[in-house]
Amino acid sequence: MFILVTGGAGFIGSHTCVELLNAGYELIVIDNFLNSKPESLHRVQELTGKSFKFYQVDMLEEVQMERVFLENRIDAVIHFAGLKAVGESVSNPLLYYKNNLMSTFILCQLMQKYNIKHLVFSSSATVYGLPESVPISEDFHLKALNPYGRTKLIIEQVLQDLYSSDPEWSISLLRYFNPIGAHESGLIGEDPQNIPNNLMPYITQVAAGKLHELEVFGSCYPTVDGTGVRDYIHVVDLAIGHLMALEKTFKSSGVHAYNLGTGQGYSVLELVSAFESVTGVRIPYRITNPRSGDAAICYADSTKAWKELGWKAKKGIEEMCADSWRWQYNNPDGYINKVKGPHITNEEEFLVQK
Ligand code: UFG
Repeated sequence: MFILVTGGAGFIGSHTCVELLNAGYELIVIDNFLNSKPESLHRVQELTGKSFKFYQVDMLEEVQMERVFLENRIDAVIHFAGLKAVGESVSNPLLYYKNNLMSTFILCQLMQKYNIKHLVFSSSATVYGLPESVPISEDFHLKALNPYGRTKLIIEQVLQDLYSSDPEWSISLLRYFNPIGAHESGLIGEDPQNIPNNLMPYITQVAAGKLHELEVFGSCYPTVDGTGVRDYIHVVDLAIGHLMALEKTFKSSGVHAYNLGTGQGYSVLELVSAFESVTGVRIPYRITNPRSGDAAICYADSTKAWKELGWKAKKGIEEMCADSWRWQYNNPDGYINKVKGPHITNEEEFLVQK
């Protein structure tokens, strides 16, 4: 089976490529490296010992995108590519609407033209807005709180319409909770381009001495210790969720949304404390004002994914902390500095230069 992976060099994309390659799929990966680095794909190759086809393509470039479809057999698509910084989407909404929506429209048009109707889409728990209760199940009311979230919600609705127009489509909408952790090898992980927006990469950079202290956004939420509660999920569990969703799209048609979370919530201070005890590194922190738009508590009911996909998160909070730290420790500057160890493979093996 040949799978087109958009945004395959990113955090979740690269981990999913590893799982797909290990499961025997053939890959065609595309990425524009706007928020990722080619080195992550070298590492995927190094980890799996497998080669795959790669195109450096901006998904808004229709002609280049069509070339990918013309030159390859494609059985299904996993669509990760997209901008994902909430704050940036508020200050530059048009960028988010143009990039995330147009790229998906172009992709779906090409899929339709080339008769490819199996799609796994990277959605997000952000589509639930500020949930009225927890755990959150897939039938909860959907509401976007910012342009980033609105792009995810609109795309979900577009894909629903696409299926209504043609029942041969088979689409999984994967609503991620809070992905953290890294591959246990320490070779691939999350590589934020600037100061991290998200909690775990911020913690690991404080631990590494790159950032001075963690700001904890608010301590008066109605939670165990007043700090925000989230459902952190190991990125490898998430990647495996994509494989299972992909298999489901080959078995039946329809549009199906799945929550990918552990079902277990941890507060900011609980995560800090778990990180400290697993790594032995102290994380200095300071309580500041709440961040606007943040929910107090957010965690998933993932029973639908278990019942319909046979998927359940397996890795606990300790493993998430240990793997996040191993990645940060081995790669203090992300993918810029190569880790010591075996060869970095020859680009020609998988790079199809445009
Ligand atoms: N937090 C801090 N300090 C920080 C960063 C975060 O205290 O420096 C807190 C937040 O207030 C929140 C928790 O840590 O309580 C988690 O925050 P993240 O930014 O890591 O994650 P969010 O839950 O805000 O958002 C994430 C993704 C979004 C996605 C959402 C879905 O970043 O893209 O989950 O629920 F939409």
